[in-house]
Amino acid sequence: MAIISCKSLTKQYGAKVLAVDKLDLDIEEGEVFGLLGPNGAGKTTTISMLCTLIHSTSGQASVAGFDIKKQPSKVRQNIGIVFQEPSVDDLLSGRENLELHGMLYGMKEQDRNARIGEMLELVGLTDRANDLVREYSGGMRRRLEIARGLMHRPKVLFLDEPTLGLDPQSRTHIWDYIRRLSKEHGTTMVLTTHYMEEADLLCNRIGIMDLGKIIALGTPRELKSKIGEDIVRLRGAVDADKIRKLKFVRKAAQEDGITTVALVDAPVNLQALLKVVGRVDSVEVREVTLNDVFLHYTGKEIHKEEGEGGWFERVARSGGNRA
Ligand SMILES: Nc1ncnc2c1ncn2[C@@H]1O[C@H](COP(=O)(O)OP(=O)(O)O)[C@@H](O)[C@H]1O
Ligand SMILES: [Mg+2]
Repeated sequence: MAIISCKSLTKQYGAKVLAVDKLDLDIEEGEVFGLLGPNGAGKTTTISMLCTLIHSTSGQASVAGFDIKKQPSKVRQNIGIVFQEPSVDDLLSGRENLELHGMLYGMKEQDRNARIGEMLELVGLTDRANDLVREYSGGMRRRLEIARGLMHRPKVLFLDEPTLGLDPQSRTHIWDYIRRLSKEHGTTMVLTTHYMEEADLLCNRIGIMDLGKIIALGTPRELKSKIGEDIVRLRGAVDADKIRKLKFVRKAAQEDGITTVALVDAPVNLQALLKVVGRVDSVEVREVTLNDVFLHYTGKEIHKEEGEGGWFERVARSGGNRA
């Protein structure tokens, strides 16, 4: 049975903004599920409803077997939340923050202390446990928030953009903890991110979200293989129609003297492709990314700064065959 189940879950803000649009989604126990999408896609709104922080407009959802509308306090007992707004207390030490949280959840002293030690160890803060949080770096705070979110042994941990604003090293640390949590504790996690790389690395399954809807759902590998597996860029005079006839080619598009080809298994098929193409000035091969997947479904890039040049967007405009 799914540990999280949404049926037609909807959130409307005012008359105009349909933030989450009839979302249907099941998440199984033990999954690390990623909601991936650009700013404004509806990711935070979705998990805020599931965490009972905001009311849904219509539809239903259950978390850990409890209905978000009818049994919100049961839902809250069974979840941990790591959201963007800093919520740990600056003037307390790391340990005191965890202690307070354990007390709020009615944990007995002995259990609480054992759990605090375990959680501090998990997020690598044992050495700094007695320092005030105001002396922590951004990455350490986020780690403390994760530890706190886990104190009461929730069945599901929700993380909203867990690495937003962190330096690369802290991001890598957070990724390690999330993976350890999943592997060693089997905690179900639902995280949102607009970093494709993050979703790809951490999540066993991803829902790509745009304009309040999940537009693609699957394992990272499944999502990418819908596009093809590799991208080959050819510079020079090339007949794109000939390329499209090859059975390992998923799509081909041309712009400014560059032909971009999405294909299956470039290491095996590149020679055959080049044979058909003839002479070219340059050849570049890379793997398909989740950004390509997003572009494929939406015609726009998930994250401009991190984009790969937006060629699928251009493909769309130049009339390439979008499946
Ligand atoms: N409290 C709110 N009032 C009105 N509109 C909101 C509110 N919160 C979010 N929105 C709007 O809902 C949409 C989805 O937002 P959000 O869930 O925060 O997206 P994401 O987390 O994917 O960036 C956006 O258009 C956003 O502007
Ligand atoms: Mg958000």
